Amino acid sequence: MSKKCIVLGVTGGIAAYKAADLCSKLAQKSYDVHVIMTSSAQELVRPRTFLTLSQNPVITSLWAEPDWRPGHVALAERADLLVIAPCTANFIGKFTHGIADDALTTYALTHSGKVLLAPAMNPKMWRNAAVQANVAILKERGVEFAGPASGHVACGDEGVGRMSEPDDILRRIEALFCLPER
Ligand SMILES: Cc1cc2nc3c(=O)[nH]c(=O)nc-3n(C[C@H](O)[C@H](O)[C@H](O)COP(=O)(O)O)c2cc1C
Repeated sequence: MSKKCIVLGVTGGIAAYKAADLCSKLAQKSYDVHVIMTSSAQELVRPRTFLTLSQNPVITSLWAEPDWRPGHVALAERADLLVIAPCTANFIGKFTHGIADDALTTYALTHSGKVLLAPAMNPKMWRNAAVQANVAILKERGVEFAGPASGHVACGDEGVGRMSEPDDILRRIEALFCLPER
C-alpha cells in the first residue's frame, strides 16, 4: 500500500514548536508529510526544522515556489489528510469564510479530503463568540477537531485552549484513516 500523504499546516501559535514533534512522529510512522507554514509560524519556528524532519520541501509562501505549477495545487491531488497544528483563531476564521490570502489558506481551500484542526489559543480567544460560531460552522461541514485541551497556556492563563499533545493528535490521525470516506 502506498504511503498516506499528510499536509501539515503550521500556523502562528506558540505551540508551533510542538508541531515539530508531531511532524517527526508522523515521519517515523512513514507518512509522507508535507509542511506548509504561515508567516506568523515562521516567526516562531524555522522552516528548516520541518524540512529536516519531514524530508520534504516546506511551502512558506505562494510566491517563492520554483515550479511552474503551484505546490499547493500539486499537493492537493495526492494529500489524504490536512492537519493544522497548531491552529490559530485567525486560521479558523479565514477557513470558515473562504479566505485564501497565503499559501496555507489557499491550500486549505484546494484540499478536498479530510481536515483535522488542532486549535491552540488563549482560553479567552477560544471562548470568543466569533471563534465558537466559526468552529460550529466547520464542525457542521465535517471538519474534525482534536482538542483544544484544558490546562495552563503559555501566556499564563488557565482554561481550555492548549493544543492537544502530539501523541493525541497522532492517535486521531490514525483513527481518521480507519474511517470510511465521507
Ligand atoms: C508570541 C505569540 C504567540 C501567539 N500564540 C497564538 C496562539 O497560540 N493562538 C492564536 O490563535 N494566536 C496566537 N498568536 C497570534 C497569531 O500569531 C496572530 O493572530 C496571527 O495573525 C496568526 O496568523 P496565522 O493564522 O496566519 O498563522 C500569537 C502571537 C504571538 C506574538
